[in-house]
Amino acid sequence: MPSLIRCALLRRILLLGSLVLAAAITGAPPAVAEFGDVVINNYSDAAAMRPVVFPHWFHRIRFRCKACHADLGFKFKAGGNDINMLKIIDGQYCGGCHNGAIAWSVENCNLCHSGKPGTPTQVHESTVQELVAPAAKTPPVKK
Ligand code: HEC
Ligand code: HEC
Ligand code: HEC
Repeated sequence: MPSLIRCALLRRILLLGSLVLAAAITGAPPAVAEFGDVVINNYSDAAAMRPVVFPHWFHRIRFRCKACHADLGFKFKAGGNDINMLKIIDGQYCGGCHNGAIAWSVENCNLCHSGKPGTPTQVHESTVQELVAPAAKTPPVKK
């Protein structure tokens, strides 16, 4: 093996090792999909709406998996559900709760359509804040 290649390889292995070590020291959780926000963008961009950012963890600590994945029929796949506003207003999918009774209602477009334009459908391991486009930031609520 030419020494230049071997050297580059060694550097990568060392870098990888130090990253793992850093994560172990700081206790940073590994990027696990189940902790992530789900960006849903099957139709939004095409309809000139910002992509939907669904904070999965926020919901999971409030509801049983069954409420969404069985009762409301959400398939376990980012982007794997054919969701549109007619269905939501009809009480399906997000509309099972975002109806002004269990949770705030559909007229709050920006609270769901909060992603940066062009963000593809994905499980994003970060917090909502890093995905939300600046214009979507709501002013702090006065207590
Ligand atoms: C409770 C969350 C939520 C709220 C509130 C909401 N939406 Fe949506 N909307 C979604 C989801 C989820 C989708 C599917 C996203 C995708 O696949 O791109 C969607 C899709 C859409 C689409 C593309 C599909 C279609 O139905 O034509 C449009 C346009 C849209 N929303 C407009 C709006 C407008 C306008 C408002 C406010 C009056 C609004 N939405 C409020 C969750 C929401
Ligand atoms: C409030 C509703 C809700 C609850 C409660 C909920 N989920 Fe989800 N889950 C969703 C939605 C919405 C998606 C994304 C679907 C989409 O993009 O069309 C999703 C996606 C997923 C995915 C797929 C992620 C990927 O990698 O593609 C898994 C796995 C999952 N949920 C597991 C769970 C488990 C386990 C629980 C309970 C501990 C749970 N969910 C509770 C709504 C919910
Ligand atoms: C099982 C009921 C349920 C379903 C289904 C549901 N939500 Fe929610 N959602 C809630 C509740 C309850 C809240 C908290 C409302 C409040 O604080 O007044 C909430 C809050 C939110 C928030 C704000 C989170 C925050 O940080 O304050 C967003 C964004 C959101 N939902 C998007 C969605 C989208 C998008 C869908 C569909 C993909 C969806 N929700 C489906 C019950 C639900």
